[in-house]
Amino acid sequence: MSTEQERALIEATHRPSTATSLRSDLEALGLAPGATVMVHASLSALGYVVGGPEAVVDALIGAIGPTGTLMMPAHSGQYTDPVNWRSPPVPVKWIDSMREAMPPFDVAKSPTRMMGSIAEYFRLSPGVCRSNHPTVSAAAIGPNTSMLLDGHSLDQGLGEGSPQARLYDLDGQILLLGVSHANNTAMHVAEYRAVPEGHPLLAQRSPMTVAGERVWVDHHEIDEDNEFATIGDAFAATGAQRSGAVGAGVAHLMSARALVDFTTKWLQQHVYR
Ligand SMILES: CC(C)(COP(=O)(O)OP(=O)(O)OC[C@H]1O[C@@H](n2cnc3c(N)ncnc32)[C@H](O)[C@@H]1OP(=O)(O)O)[C@@H](O)C(=O)NCCC(=O)NCCS
Repeated sequence: MSTEQERALIEATHRPSTATSLRSDLEALGLAPGATVMVHASLSALGYVVGGPEAVVDALIGAIGPTGTLMMPAHSGQYTDPVNWRSPPVPVKWIDSMREAMPPFDVAKSPTRMMGSIAEYFRLSPGVCRSNHPTVSAAAIGPNTSMLLDGHSLDQGLGEGSPQARLYDLDGQILLLGVSHANNTAMHVAEYRAVPEGHPLLAQRSPMTVAGERVWVDHHEIDEDNEFATIGDAFAATGAQRSGAVGAGVAHLMSARALVDFTTKWLQQHVYR
């Protein structure tokens, strides 16, 4: 952030948030000790936070306590064949050299992309584990970490073999912290459940290290244009999510099961009839 941007953020914030004030806000929203929760977050949406990402992660861990499990996305879509890149695409003449030079995904080292500073800070925090998926991994800490992350399937990495599907099994929660349902990755589980048998998936390739060698590994991912924000609005209208202020932002807390079941039915009724 430039000095000018920081000045604007300070000027736009009525009162700065702290780890303590954010924790109180999260508790008032309903985040409770022992919760298993997946968080999608934007730092700037919370207004000025004293301590930045560290304070937000402290607040989350403080609210769920030592019996709670915190999970965040650690996606790294840059570890894919650049021929499939759309946001943004790269010049065709770059592709061969990019394929040759791209480092293999490394679960310990590879940075996240577009997940935000809170998720990236969390990924690098002591004791946090990450699932071994080159593009759609998740990071977690707490007693349910192994249940959530172990066995993350390479193929259909946001489907039945995903941390989000395990969150559903565990009857966990989802917290959207200053972001909309457009970022709610558990809705991909619903897409996999709603599409008809044999529905086409995107053929994807990622550089990984297998038996000490860098190889391109094939996998498939769902690649639909469903408007998660619209579906999320319909879900919110049922009264099934709690919304409230966290810092200067708005947060939404919901059951992963309720959200995925609602989305599956919505997609079956409106899209995959
Ligand atoms: C993309 C996204 C992360 C952007 O959010 P953002 O608030 O602009 O960016 P970050 O959360 O990375 O926070 C960094 C920004 O916070 C602001 N910031 C810096 N220090 C801050 C502080 N102490 N207090 C508050 N804001 C601060 C700055 O604007 C900074 O931007 P900069 O890095 O360009 O300087 C967010 O919109 C989003 O989509 N989050 C969810 C991601 C996700 O879970 N995706 C799932 C799959 S789609």
